[in-house]
Amino acid sequence: EKTDAQLVTIIKGIKERMGSRLFLPAHHYQKDEVVQFADATGDSLQLAQLAKQMTDAEYTVFCGVHFMAETADMLTDQTHTVVLPDMRAGCSMADMANGFQTERAYEILTNRLGRSILPLTYVNSTAEIKAFVGRHGGATVTSSNAVPMVEWALGEREILFFLPDQHLGRNTAHALGIPLEQMAVWDPIADRLIFDGADEDIRVVLWKGHCSVHEKFTVGQIEQFRQADPERKILVHPECSFEVVAASDLNGSTAYIIDQIKRAEPGTKWAIGTEMNLVQRLANDYPQLDIVSLNPFMCPCLTMNRIDLRHLAWSLEQIEAGQPVNIITVDPETTRYAVLALERMLERS
Ligand code: 13P
Ligand code: SF4
Repeated sequence: EKTDAQLVTIIKGIKERMGSRLFLPAHHYQKDEVVQFADATGDSLQLAQLAKQMTDAEYTVFCGVHFMAETADMLTDQTHTVVLPDMRAGCSMADMANGFQTERAYEILTNRLGRSILPLTYVNSTAEIKAFVGRHGGATVTSSNAVPMVEWALGEREILFFLPDQHLGRNTAHALGIPLEQMAVWDPIADRLIFDGADEDIRVVLWKGHCSVHEKFTVGQIEQFRQADPERKILVHPECSFEVVAASDLNGSTAYIIDQIKRAEPGTKWAIGTEMNLVQRLANDYPQLDIVSLNPFMCPCLTMNRIDLRHLAWSLEQIEAGQPVNIITVDPETTRYAVLALERMLERS
């Protein structure tokens, strides 16, 4: 069993020897022990925009979750190899929708509502779901471009079908002036539309999916902070529920959260509602600010945390030995349609 110091030496050595043949992007939720080796860090949009840098290398070792590595594979050419250091690094939200369920829901909704429907999917979805969306004229969105993408979708067709994160969909549509009374929820388990009003009032259908990390932030936590110190700013990710986002001061993607903290006045106080590694890193990097997690139990994303020194060192060793493991490849048919959805987003971002 190697020590952390030995693993660090192994990773450094391989990175040095492989040079530009290797590209290592990392999402902001990755552990510090991984981020220290990143050639680039970013939110989901920034990571999707790195295709050119990836293609210039021979291997991309993606330090993030499975759907991000799939996107990297789909946006790079055939000769490029994308590796995910641990195949268990999935995303529970992405797994809340599959191709069979979405095609069936789209058909039922089209027949029942009798109006044109445009699907949009959060990038936190499988390649199969991105292909479903691409096939029906829709696009992907991230938390940093959701507002212009949803605005575009609402202008294109009569009804927006947003998946798989109901919270990002609801928060974004509401920010654009759509009242909650015009938003229905599609329950893929019961195959049922949840809506109190009349069908003709529906403007948005939200897939009943969520992020298990961001669901742990509550209005009660915000109230406690407000009572203890009204000066403390509440900054959350839009994967939090509508009520939490409405009660917060600011909300945005991980890149937006970092940017707000970068510009903050020394001495200001913050409670941040997003994944633990990022909150902890910000608290360490900005000691002149008072930064805490909105949830005192911190909220780690267990699957992001599967990528660690051990798995990173192992996957790099396999690459250097000419036997890469955990290669992420999306089949050409899925890629063709999913890339349509991704490109519709990238050209508008
Ligand atoms: P962003 O970095 O795009 O805000 O995404 C957050 C997230 O949950 C990624 O899984
Ligand atoms: Fe998925 Fe939530 Fe983890 Fe992001 S934080 S990877 S949405 S489970």
